[in-house]
Amino acid sequence: MKYIVVLPAAGSGKRMKAGHNKLFLTLRGKPILIHTLDVFEQDPNCMAIWLAVKPEERTIIQNMLQNYHITKVKGMPAGGDERQHSVYACVLAADATTGLILVHDAARPFIEPSVITKLTLRAYETGAAIAGVKAKDTMKRVRNHIIEETIDREQLWMIQTPQAFRASILIKAQQQAARDGFLGTDESMLVERLNIAVHVVESTYDNVKMTTQEDLLIGEAILQKRQQEEN
Ligand code: CTP
Ligand code: MG
Repeated sequence: MKYIVVLPAAGSGKRMKAGHNKLFLTLRGKPILIHTLDVFEQDPNCMAIWLAVKPEERTIIQNMLQNYHITKVKGMPAGGDERQHSVYACVLAADATTGLILVHDAARPFIEPSVITKLTLRAYETGAAIAGVKAKDTMKRVRNHIIEETIDREQLWMIQTPQAFRASILIKAQQQAARDGFLGTDESMLVERLNIAVHVVESTYDNVKMTTQEDLLIGEAILQKRQQEEN
């Protein structure tokens, strides 16, 4: 299914402690941001990329896009104080009222093309589909370090991006959240508030978000594994 993608890239990467936007850190010599962009640059179903950036980083990112031959970025609106606002800025800039919009963290460079294909197909059929993986650990609800409940793991999924929506659904959900001053940690939460069913598509454990410094080691290991598989 054809789609456009929105990539929030306007964070500050505080937990990474790099002293600058973590997306500029490199894995195997290439910036994390470019690893992520390459996935969509190479997917023939991706029609356009919208990137939320910090205004002061626009020039450096523009240069990066040129150096790495990224051609599908159609706009780089200024991000907001919260991730949700950065995503909304892109959706407004894209001005797409029909078709599919995929929202994906720029900080998740290892998304598999096969997951994007499954996800966009499901979103096309149903209106809303998000990527997730089954929880691996035993999960308990804890208050003040005391167990309140063990939660049935079969029902628990760890949710990632990408998250794909029919444009009309995502826009309606964002407008309602803006009116209510509701802040969610993902776009699905905004859609769930409208009582619209959101479908979960099984993704891979590789699709980690580069958040803290340990994640960079995991990232290098994933790239090494992929290179070995290619050879
Ligand atoms: N993001 C954004 N605008 C914000 C905050 C985050 O566009 N105001 C983007 C980040 O650049 C990242 C994605 O949203 O690609 C996921 O956010 P996160 O992993 O939390 O990144 P940061 O906010 O940069 O990191 P931290 O929370 O550690 O400061
Ligand atoms: Mg953050």
